[in-house]
Parts: sequence; structure tokens; C-alpha cells
Amino acid sequence: MTIPPIGMTPDEIMATLRRFKAHDMDWQSGRVFAYVYQPRETAAAVVRDAYMLYLAENCLDPTIFPSIAQLERDVVRMIAGLLQGDEQVAGNVTGGGTESILLAVKAARDWARAHRPHIAQPEMVLSRTAHAAFHKAAHYFGVKPVVVAFDPVTFEADVAAMRAAITDNTILLVASAPCYSQGVIDPVPAIASLAREYGLLCHVDACVGGIYLSFLRKLGYAVPPFDFSIPASHPSLWTCTNTDIPPRALRLSSTATAPCGGIRCLLRPTQPAIPYQPDGSQFAVGWTDCRCVGDPAPPG
Ligand SMILES: Cc1ncc(COP(=O)(O)O)c(C=O)c1O
Repeated sequence: MTIPPIGMTPDEIMATLRRFKAHDMDWQSGRVFAYVYQPRETAAAVVRDAYMLYLAENCLDPTIFPSIAQLERDVVRMIAGLLQGDEQVAGNVTGGGTESILLAVKAARDWARAHRPHIAQPEMVLSRTAHAAFHKAAHYFGVKPVVVAFDPVTFEADVAAMRAAITDNTILLVASAPCYSQGVIDPVPAIASLAREYGLLCHVDACVGGIYLSFLRKLGYAVPPFDFSIPASHPSLWTCTNTDIPPRALRLSSTATAPCGGIRCLLRPTQPAIPYQPDGSQFAVGWTDCRCVGDPAPPG
């Protein structure tokens, strides 16, 4: 295919795109499990409008589009509250769970460089059930993944196996709430306590659970502790959350970070994202999700 010598008309373009899509699954029929999650039509409409409102604006210079920085600050505060965090919790809005995990592992690596400078080859201990993004992060940031077996009955991370895998090079322990493969919540308090005992960081991957578990708890279901309510005397808990609203690119993601020796997830102030300068739409969508769904039992 080549770029056409004369540009196509908008009608031709849309007709062509619709033809391309003709053999894709029709997720709106309600017969596609996962991938796209159907919101209420009112929520879907306002989310689409918010996305379009910020399609062109980008994060390159927050003095040009200061409202994007405001949207990010608001989202971080709203999600920190949902996760029972206090004012000490800081964070970034990211493009998804993978980016949140990349930022968390990078922040742990940077923390170790500052606070454990004798470690030449940092290691992170994770259960086999942890998301593949941890292996991507390990590869990108030079952190060795030490994978341990899960409990064969419950599929939970095996805390005894994690303890046995800790070495002088360990910097980070990983927990999932829940893990992407079995939907099982790891024993987060025990893993966080192990991290405290050894002076390590702990990352909780709550990419799916951060939102869902918080609301299930508010609805009265027995949800085991997985968020900032877990004491972290050695402040070390990262939690990332995201929920997918159609289309899949529209998602609310946040990496909330307990204060950790001054290390934040930011790469540098004007370059918070890993892949590119995001446009404002993901921030507007995250903000809109929080505001339009509402929380019948806000903290405090
Ligand atoms: C537990 C968990 N972690 C991380 C991810 C990665 O998230 P994303 O696909 O948004 O990069 C997922 C995605 O399903 C997940 O379920």
C-alpha cells in the first residue's frame, strides 16, 4: 500500500475503516468476555466527550496546558483516597497497568541505587502468577526477576518461598491483588510485612483490583487488605490501578506511591510517561470516570 496521490474524502475514509472492522468481534453484542467492558450509556457518552475534548492537547509543557496537570493531581488524590491512602501518597496517571509496573520497578531500582549502592545486580522476588509486565520491566531496568512457585492449592503467592528467595541483592517483593491469570488475591499483608522485616520495597499490582476490590469492600463484601491501609513503617507500597472503559484505550490508571526516600516514579518532571508525551485524553477520561461514577461512601 502507498499513500494515495490525492487524499481520500472523510466519507471514503470512514467507509473504508468500517469495512476493515466488519470481521472484528462485535463486543457490544454482549458476547465478548473481557477485552472491552460495557459501561452505562451515560458514562460512555461523557467519557467519549471528555476524550475528544483533550485529544489534541498534550503533556509536553504543563505551562501551556495546565489543566492536564490539574486533572492528574485530582485523579491521584481521588484514587489515593479510594485506596485508603493519606496525603503522603503521591502518584502519576499512566497509560495502563504495564506502564505503572514499569514505573514502579524503575522507582525501586533508583531507590536501591541511592540507598543500597553496594548492590550491583538488584533482584525482585515475584510469584509465577505475577503479570508478564514485571519481566518486561526487569529486562528494561536491569533488575533480575527471581520467580518462585505459587501455592498449588490456592494459587496464592507462597510467602515462605518468597522468604527463602530473598538474598543480599533483593530490593523488591511483588504481590498481586488479584493476579491476572487466576484472579486470586495474594496475601498482601504477609508480603508487605516480609518486606518491612528485610527493609525491602513492596509493590502491589492492583491493576484490576484497585478499583473493583475497593468498591466491593464498600458494598460490604469481605475483601482482604491489599491497599494503603496496610502499615508500611518502611514506606514502600506502590499500587497501580486501572479499569478499562470502551474503547480499551480509555482507561483510568494510576500508580500511587507511598513516600519512599524521596524517590518518585517520575522520570523527570516534564516527562512523566515512559512511551511518549501522552495527550490529555487519558487524564480527562480518568478524571471523568471518577466523577461520573461517584463513590457513595467516600473516605473521611
Ligand atoms: C494484574 C494485572 N497486572 C497488569 C496488567 C497489565 O495491564 P495493561 O494491559 O493495562 O498494560 C493486567 C492486565 O490485564 C493485569 O490484569
